[in-house]
Amino acid sequence: MLDLLDGLLPPEPAQETIGDGAMLLRGAALPYEAALLVALDRITTRSPFRHMVTPGGFRMSVAMTNCGAAGWVTDRTGYRYDAIDPETGLPWPLMPDCFLDLAITAASQAGYPAFRPDACLVNRYEPGARLSLHQDRNEHDFAHPIVSVSLGLPATFLFGGLTRGDPVTRFALRHGDVVVWGGPSRLRYHGVAELKEGTHELLGHRRINLTFRKALA
Ligand code: SIN
Ligand code: FE2
Repeated sequence: MLDLLDGLLPPEPAQETIGDGAMLLRGAALPYEAALLVALDRITTRSPFRHMVTPGGFRMSVAMTNCGAAGWVTDRTGYRYDAIDPETGLPWPLMPDCFLDLAITAASQAGYPAFRPDACLVNRYEPGARLSLHQDRNEHDFAHPIVSVSLGLPATFLFGGLTRGDPVTRFALRHGDVVVWGGPSRLRYHGVAELKEGTHELLGHRRINLTFRKALA
């Protein structure tokens, strides 16, 4: 039976081009897994996860924090990058070396060897949480790609086009997968479908996503 299935299902490629300038690197974060989880604990001890509010007044179902020189925040006044965590009044935690290493290595594999992130948004999804289609456009210069790391429970990544109504392709993202999009794909709409119930052996009932950007000039 297993042999039969093996014959029917082509093996998943380790690296898949998912658009012009966009790649899905399966398992690229796995070598960093242990270090990432230790670093994540340090970050969330200093700057805990919180549910931010959109400019329209909606509480986001995804809980967020940041590390690096700039952190992405939203409140009733709008979206922005801020050097200070508004909850603690302190600078965001420093970007850990393992975060930087992983982001730079993945970007380079996807064709962006000059990428040096100064911001990492840390997203926590619990079952039921979702992120609606949006563009990442609060960064200073769209010449830099986005590097997005998935940990914990699997999720469905929605990858659309340059306008909101464009067709959306769905990709299953699992623990350790990394998506990089830049160049002609930099402003593509993207989002995450509602997270399904489940338990991950390391992260429990959670999916953690690390989104690396070069936000500042
Ligand atoms: C994001 O767009 O900020 C997050 C994407 C993800 O969670 O995979
Ligand atoms: Fe995004």
